[in-house]
Amino acid sequence: MSKTILITGASRGIGLGFTESFLGKGHQVFAVTRQMETPALQNLQKLHPDLLTIVVASVSDPNGRASVREQVLAKTNRIDWLINNAGIYPEGDDDLNTLTPENLRQAFEVNTITPIFVVRELLPLLKKSQQPKTFHVTSLMGSLSDNTSGGSYGYRMSKAALNMAVKSLAIDYPDIASILLHPGWVRTDMGGEQAPTSINESVQGMIAVMERSGVRQTGQFFDYEGDSIAW
Ligand SMILES: NC(=O)c1ccc[n+]([C@@H]2O[C@H](COP(=O)([O-])OP(=O)(O)OC[C@H]3O[C@@H](n4cnc5c(N)ncnc54)[C@H](OP(=O)(O)O)[C@@H]3O)[C@@H](O)[C@H]2O)c1
Repeated sequence: MSKTILITGASRGIGLGFTESFLGKGHQVFAVTRQMETPALQNLQKLHPDLLTIVVASVSDPNGRASVREQVLAKTNRIDWLINNAGIYPEGDDDLNTLTPENLRQAFEVNTITPIFVVRELLPLLKKSQQPKTFHVTSLMGSLSDNTSGGSYGYRMSKAALNMAVKSLAIDYPDIASILLHPGWVRTDMGGEQAPTSINESVQGMIAVMERSGVRQTGQFFDYEGDSIAW
């Protein structure tokens, strides 16, 4: 059955991979990006003019989030799946001596604060779905028990905090599935060329996990192969 799916950070990397895959499966996609010019998304729109809506807005800005909701409402009052994918790896994050409070704050802004306020903004539309699901692209690097190599302060802290926020969402909204996903180490601008996993492999794996996740799995943390990750 065709679903209505909203994806943040959709202009490149994993977000673009999700967009392309869901369009290929015949779903209605709202691809949210800050970019005015997005050749990859514009090409997809030519291929799927009835399915793809490019939503230009910054989800890390309150007015941007309101604009996302308005742009979606212009077409539909329902979102079945929300994919909070937008994220950043802050500069100077690897070493205590190169960290800056500004970069750490920005990591929290984009990786932690933004996803939960995107959920709040879109709650009325999610509640219109028969089986609403929210997916939050976090990272294994946000796992406390997995941290054996140190560094990456802002990235690790902001993803660990996202994990905790999603756990609370899962408890507060039991009718909405709230699932945390680790995409693997993926060849994107963020992951770099040496990453072992392709965008397609990561995205197909996560979509398989998404399809079999529902409210019974809410508040859980899985990798792209469906294995549970320890907090
Ligand atoms: N690649 C990996 O190995 C890896 C591993 C673990 C987790 N992740 C997570 O996977 C997600 C996607 O990462 P990726 O590898 O695809 O990264 P990417 O290629 O760098 O893309 C990141 C996306 O995030 C959006 N974004 C960046 N800064 C933003 C800001 N200030 N406000 C709003 N949106 C912003 C961008 O969206 P627009 O420019 O389109 O607005 C961009 O499309 C992230 O949450 C990341 O933490 C990635």
